[in-house]
Amino acid sequence: MNHTKKQSRSSFTGKIGFILAAAGSAVGLGNIWRFPYLAAQYGGGIFLLVYLILAVTFGFTLMITEIALGRKTGLSAAGAFSKLDKRFSFLGKLSSLVPMIIFPYYSVIGGWVTKYCADFIIGRSSQAAGENYFNQFITQPVEPVIWLCLFIFATAAIVLFGVEGGIEKVSRLLMPILVILSMVIAVYTVTQPGAWEGVKYYLMPDFSRFSATTVLAALGQLFYSMSLAMGIMITYGSYMKREVDLEHSVGMIELFDTGIAFLAGLMIVPSVFVFSGGDEAALGKGPGLMFDTLPKVFDRMPAGGVIGALFFILVLFAALTSAISLMETVVSIFQDRFHWSRKITCLAVMAGAILVAVPSSLGFGVWSSVTLLGKSILDFFDFISNSVIMPVVAFLTCVFVAFFAGSRSIVEEVELSSKFRRKKMYLIMIRYIAPICIIAILITSILEAFGIIKI
Ligand code: PFF
Repeated sequence: MNHTKKQSRSSFTGKIGFILAAAGSAVGLGNIWRFPYLAAQYGGGIFLLVYLILAVTFGFTLMITEIALGRKTGLSAAGAFSKLDKRFSFLGKLSSLVPMIIFPYYSVIGGWVTKYCADFIIGRSSQAAGENYFNQFITQPVEPVIWLCLFIFATAAIVLFGVEGGIEKVSRLLMPILVILSMVIAVYTVTQPGAWEGVKYYLMPDFSRFSATTVLAALGQLFYSMSLAMGIMITYGSYMKREVDLEHSVGMIELFDTGIAFLAGLMIVPSVFVFSGGDEAALGKGPGLMFDTLPKVFDRMPAGGVIGALFFILVLFAALTSAISLMETVVSIFQDRFHWSRKITCLAVMAGAILVAVPSSLGFGVWSSVTLLGKSILDFFDFISNSVIMPVVAFLTCVFVAFFAGSRSIVEEVELSSKFRRKKMYLIMIRYIAPICIIAILITSILEAFGIIKI
C-alpha cells in the first residue's frame, strides 16, 4: 500500500488493482485459521448460516460505507470522521486501536505458520502429524517466540523498504493457486471415511445451537476477516478512483473472502470428525485447530509432504499481505501523530509488537495460568478487539453515517461511479437494522458472558 501512499495519495490503477489490494488485506489468517475453528466451536452449520447472512447484509453495508467515506474525503479514518463532523474525531482514534491490538497476536499465529512451513519444506511432515507435536511446540518458552520474531522482522522489512507492491504482486499470483489447492484438499478431506458426519455438521444448521454469542462471534469474525471496523477500508477507499464501480468491487471482495473461508472450513471441520470422531473437546480446540488437524490430513494424502509444504507457503503469503496492511496502518498512525521518520517509526512499531506478542505466546506455556476474563492472553486480545471494540466502532460508524454525516452522502458517492443497485437495502440497513442489531447483540452477549442471562 505504501507505494501508492508515497505518490501523495495517488490511485489504484483501475478496478482490478483496487479489488486485489483490498483482497490482499482481507484474505489472511482470519479466513484460514480463525474461521474454521470458530465454525467448529459454535455449532458448524448454524455458525456458517449466521455468517453468510451477516456477510451479505452487515458486511456489505459496512464495507461500502467505509470505502465510500474514504473516497469521498480522500482521507484515512482519523481525518475522514473529523472532516465530516468534528465531534466524531474520537471514532478515528478508537478504530485505530484495533490494528494495534491485532498486529502482535496476529504475528504469534504468523510465527506458527512460518514454523510449519519450515517443517514441511525440510521434510518433517510426518513428525508434524504426531499427536502431541503442536502442543509441545506452543508450550515451549523460546521456540515460538523466535518464530514470531521472524514473522515480525519479515513484515517490518517489507514495510520499511517499501516493497509491499512487489509482495502483493507475487501474492496475487499465489492466491488463485491457494484457492485451487484448498479445493483439492477439501475434496480429499470430505471423501475420507468418517468425514460425512463432519460435512453434515459444517453444512446443516442445528438451530438448537443458536445463541447471542454465536451471532457476536460471527459478527466479530466478519469484521476481522474483511478488515472492517478498524479504519483500513477507509484508507483503501481514499486511494480509489471515482470512476471505479464501488458496489461491484465490494461484492467481489466479499465473494473472494467468504469463498476462501468457506473452503478452509470444509478442509478443517470434517477432518476433526475423521481423526477424533467429532467429540466436543476436539471441536472446541480453538486457535490450535488448523495446526492439529491439517498435518494429519497431509500425512494420509498421496504426495502429502509436498502438498503440505505448498499449502503452508501459500498461507504464509496470505498472512504476510494482511500483516503488512496491519503494520502499515499502525506505522502511519504513529507517523501522523509523532512526526517521527519512517525508519524510526517502523523500528518502534516492530519493538512494540514483539513486546506485546511475547506474553500472548507465553500464555500457551509458562504463563498458561494467567487468564483474563477466563481466557488465555491471546484469546483475551482477540476478544477485546473482535467482540468489543470492533462492534462498538461498527455501531458508531452506522450512527455517524445515518444521523450526522447523512446516508445520502454515501449513496451519492456510490452513484458517482455506477447505479446503486442495492440502495434500498443499504439505507434500511445503515439507518435501522445495523445499529439496532449490533447494539442488541453486544449487550445480550455481554450479559450472557457474565452469566446474567441465558439464551
Ligand atoms: N483480514 C485479515 C484476515 O482475515 O486475516 C486480518 C486483518 C488484516 C485484519 C488487516 C485487519 C487488518 F487491518
